Amino acid sequence: PYPVYEKLRKDEPVFKVMFPHGEFGWIISRYEDAVQVLKDSRFSKDMVKRYGADRQSIFSSTMLFSDPPDHRRLRGLVQKAFTPQLVAGMRSHIQDIASDLLDNLPSQETMNLIDDYAFPLPIIVISEILGVPLEDRDKFRMWSNTFIEASTMKNTVLLQQHVQEFTEYLTAWFAKVRKDPGQDLISQLVIAEESGDQLSEKELLGVVSLLIIAGHETTVNLIGNGILALLEHPEQRDLLIKRPELIHQAIEEMLRYNGPVEFSTSRWASEDIEFRGQHIAKGDLVIVALDSANRDEEQFKDPDVFDITREKSSHLAFGKGIHLCLGAPLARLEGEIAVSTLLHRFPNMRLQADVDTLEWRPGMVVRGVKEIPVQLI
Ligand code: HEM
Repeated sequence: PYPVYEKLRKDEPVFKVMFPHGEFGWIISRYEDAVQVLKDSRFSKDMVKRYGADRQSIFSSTMLFSDPPDHRRLRGLVQKAFTPQLVAGMRSHIQDIASDLLDNLPSQETMNLIDDYAFPLPIIVISEILGVPLEDRDKFRMWSNTFIEASTMKNTVLLQQHVQEFTEYLTAWFAKVRKDPGQDLISQLVIAEESGDQLSEKELLGVVSLLIIAGHETTVNLIGNGILALLEHPEQRDLLIKRPELIHQAIEEMLRYNGPVEFSTSRWASEDIEFRGQHIAKGDLVIVALDSANRDEEQFKDPDVFDITREKSSHLAFGKGIHLCLGAPLARLEGEIAVSTLLHRFPNMRLQADVDTLEWRPGMVVRGVKEIPVQLI
């Protein structure tokens, strides 16, 4: 998509589009404009207010689709589980998970980076934080793939069926946790729910679904896209092997260069807004193209160059403003451990296919490759 974004930034930075369902929307492609939109409270995320109660989804009652004051309350309840200190305490455990995955690869010569490594790692971590059974991780993957790719799915019956299965699964799980709560995040949220009316059943279902999906769909692609960028730039891979302390900068560069979230979830104009000479009418959707902002030549020198020594990156891969990714400290840590561990174990790994033949996942929200075949030795 990058050449298209470059053209948009140059010619039509606030670009009017008509969505397939006949609605008007705007794509924001420049860095500076992206920051402004993400921080401007006139661009609302409350989709129930926009579309009415009959177009609700499981995510409608979550922080991701709400404005203050609800947003503050919904985010506050989960925020404490994701502070940088708490996350840092998980380092050695995440390290064990990464090492175990590599020890138990189906083959020590080749692997599919996504299925064998990038997918299981974050789903194991988030399942443990939430306290849901690990053996159900393939079900989570199936359900969340459906939700993420929903906009491109013609099969709405399958979508409905998966929403129903997912909801029933979680509702049964909450009932079990209520009888016998543990130390995990779902137990904490259930206790918060029972101790006052802080969180309704619908909100509980929403936040857990959001964490399961946001917690792994994106991180899989940070690991996948990030390692892919290293394999495409062997001199950068060799540099990272020689100077492992560059891992923090390398992860930030991976997030900037090929961010896992292409478009941040849409916002809508809660009033008529004049923006960069365009008239954004009340009700219009506004989509921020994060991956475009992250390649803006006004913000980043040589934006199309993948350079893990780039100083201080101000990329927008985690968004900006009040909806800034809640899981960013966890995602960064998982990314660092996943990439370092793999490189340390298999320093000579290389791509087993031509990069142009790799298939990218459909849909515009999450950007990632379906399979990455890698020769390990
Ligand atoms: C929000 C990206 C990993 C939980 C967001 C947003 C972005 C983002 C761009 C803001 C969306 C918007 O403004 O419309 C990413 C990326 C990740 C990642 C690139 C991995 C590399 C995670 C993880 C978790 C998580 C691991 C949790 C375990 C959330 C939540 C929100 C959010 C709860 C909503 C925050 C709010 O609305 O206040 N993420 N995310 N994310 N993310 Fe992440």
